Amino acid sequence: MPLNLDAYWMPFTSNQAFKRSPRMLERAEGMHYWTPEGRRILDGTAGLWCVNAGHARPRITQAIAAQAAKMDYAPPFQMAHADAFRLAERLTQHLPPTLKHVFFTTSGSEAVESALKIALAYHRANGEAHRTRLIGRERGYHGVNFGGTAVGGMGPNRKWFGSQMAGVDHLRHTHDLGRNAFSRGQPEHGAELADDLERLISLHDASTIAAVIVEPVAGSTGALMPPQGYLQRLRQICSQHGIVLIFDEVITGFGRLGAPFAAQHYEVTPDLMTMAKGITNGCVPMGAVACHQTIHQTIIRATPHGIELPHGYTYSAHPLACAAALATLDTYEEENLFSRASSMSPDWEDMLHSLADLPFVIDIRNTGLVGAIELAPRMGAPVGSRAFEVYLSCWEAGLLVRTTGDTIALSPPLIIERQQIHEMGQILSNALRRLT
Ligand SMILES: Cc1ncc(COP(=O)(O)O)c(C=O)c1O
Repeated sequence: MPLNLDAYWMPFTSNQAFKRSPRMLERAEGMHYWTPEGRRILDGTAGLWCVNAGHARPRITQAIAAQAAKMDYAPPFQMAHADAFRLAERLTQHLPPTLKHVFFTTSGSEAVESALKIALAYHRANGEAHRTRLIGRERGYHGVNFGGTAVGGMGPNRKWFGSQMAGVDHLRHTHDLGRNAFSRGQPEHGAELADDLERLISLHDASTIAAVIVEPVAGSTGALMPPQGYLQRLRQICSQHGIVLIFDEVITGFGRLGAPFAAQHYEVTPDLMTMAKGITNGCVPMGAVACHQTIHQTIIRATPHGIELPHGYTYSAHPLACAAALATLDTYEEENLFSRASSMSPDWEDMLHSLADLPFVIDIRNTGLVGAIELAPRMGAPVGSRAFEVYLSCWEAGLLVRTTGDTIALSPPLIIERQQIHEMGQILSNALRRLT
């Protein structure tokens, strides 16, 4: 019987177009997916920025199976299982030294909501309950829940959902094709855009601002690297004014930039850090918030008896997710995957920038194993129509890429080999040459 595609309402998908012409995946291993027809697809996006160690790694899948057979579920409220503590401890070994505590969630969106709530709770515990304002950035993506949508800066994701949350403002984004097009690594211009925070402080007063949340590299709006000095400046202003700085490292975590986290890569330590995706190599849903010791201590000490933070999820520190994450960390560590993006980066950068002269390419950007090709919008057509055409050509030719607006975003598993980088370049080049 043919598969009935009607009942499943697909997320972030043009359901009507997809169901007319579906793209199905059936199996995955290493750097590849396979379709039900047996076509092999090179994974240029690590699934959705999450399968950093490549697909179906036996060590991880076996750990999940063994845990499912031993204990399928354990309630995380007022009780625990040992792997939750082991995992938090293991994660802190890869975090900046001041981020000593880890709160588990089930996704990146929930990690963002949790971080925003922890920032608010911290100020309250610290006697500054008047600090309630949350600052995001234009072109930021922080998941799809109400807090994340409100601090996020993607118009199409916001306009459908009413006024979201009161007391939110946004920094200007840092994307500047006029000054920074075709930058390799961090763009040269734009550190001064961090001073936008000073502007918002003058407008609202620092005493009303709880937190600033940014992605060190903005992923979902097209892989925007931070201008040189930008994150340092943001850190400085937050520290000066007692504002909690949150780095949303849901895509930059776990080796994507050539260090465990963007915090180490850019040498800027936030007060709270969200992570997800690569934490379990994408195998089991999980997210987390890493917290500065002062924030954690302040909240814990404010309530000597009873529950200190009335927040958590049924699936916080789920046993299957913890088993997957521990086996994933073993894999990352043994295969030195946190530094692999920096050793592959020169080849990756050369491949990407070799596409610079192809039709309609208006920017190429890269860092670690992240790449973006931005195309000129097609006059009179919906946003992203050219990029989506490239996406479809690549799919036909056996390469999975991702598009966001007019940008093709690339983030392969960190195990990618040089020959596969070359193969990606060939397929992308052919697809771009066909554009009209
Ligand atoms: C920076 C960032 N934050 C949050 C999220 C949301 O994560 P999830 O889809 O796991 O809820 C994403 C997802 O892509 C992301 O890129």
